[in-house]
Amino acid sequence: MMNKKTRVIAVYNQKGGSGKSTTAISLADVYARKKNLKVLIVDSDPQATASTRFGWDPELNYTEKSYPSYILNELEARERIDPYAKHIPPHEYYVGARRYSIRKDSKDGDYGGNLKLLVSNARLERAYMDLNSSSEGKDLLADMFSEICETGEFDVVVIDMAPGLGFSQREILMGTDYIVTPCTCDMDSIDGALRVGEAWDRIERHKPSPIVFLGIFFNMVKKNTKATRSTFEQIDQFWATNPRLDTIIPMNQDVNNATNKRIPVTIGFPNSSASKAFDKLANEILKRIETIESTATDMEAN
Ligand SMILES: Nc1ncnc2c1ncn2[C@@H]1O[C@H](COP(=O)(O)OP(=O)(O)OP(=O)(O)O)[C@@H](O)[C@H]1O
Ligand SMILES: [Mg+2]
Repeated sequence: MMNKKTRVIAVYNQKGGSGKSTTAISLADVYARKKNLKVLIVDSDPQATASTRFGWDPELNYTEKSYPSYILNELEARERIDPYAKHIPPHEYYVGARRYSIRKDSKDGDYGGNLKLLVSNARLERAYMDLNSSSEGKDLLADMFSEICETGEFDVVVIDMAPGLGFSQREILMGTDYIVTPCTCDMDSIDGALRVGEAWDRIERHKPSPIVFLGIFFNMVKKNTKATRSTFEQIDQFWATNPRLDTIIPMNQDVNNATNKRIPVTIGFPNSSASKAFDKLANEILKRIETIESTATDMEAN
């Protein structure tokens, strides 16, 4: 990365099952382990997929250090119903990623401090509901991301987004710099991706700093058939200004094998076709960010 600044990247498609979690987990792992970047992964989904991939089973490892705990405490502090409730900064809620979730020797420092997590658990559902119904809920998540970035502790913050487009997703996107959208080769997933584009457009207008749509990439691609090529062409035509990313993630059984072991595929099956593609995607995303930011700097200089 060029300069010392934290980039917040949301992995988001409105459609469920498009590969958001698989992508967020793989990116976080590759950046922390191979690129030696300081990474925070925010598990913003009550399903807690990302948390389990880094050794935090929400049922076994219940912890006060979690993303829902942050939200609930911060709401209390802002509502001032309890006079003793006070703001506690996000970093008090981070936990360390564990590299081997299913091994007994797994421990917090497995990534040498390069990868931290804001874990999710079932209480997140409740936290989002409270956030939505409270008059103090607005901007709370955007403020959390600002505070995370201000410390300068991380190069990258990766958000594993939950499917859907509701209050919590919109609030999170208000705190995001970049969106990247995994998409499978079916119309539902493509529609979901197009709606991300529309939502992004609306959010952009209310946001003080820009949020950049990095693009769509295809996941679970079976073969380079005529049908997949025509899907790609449709996207390219529809979305001329936000082109598709070049990387294509193949359909690969090792992703499911890794899911069954509850580890990132990039750790469990580093030589699989999917892992190689995720490496490529991680690089392509960094490159795009660098290009976008250097163009912006050039424009400021002129
Ligand atoms: N490239 C791939 N090849 C094979 N299987 C894959 C691939 N990518 C994802 N999967 C599988 O598809 C399923 C859904 O993936 P994932 O959980 O990443 O999607 P998601 O978008 O996060 O879903 P949700 O909307 O529920 O959060 C998982 O079982 C995962 O193992
Ligand atoms: Mg998911």
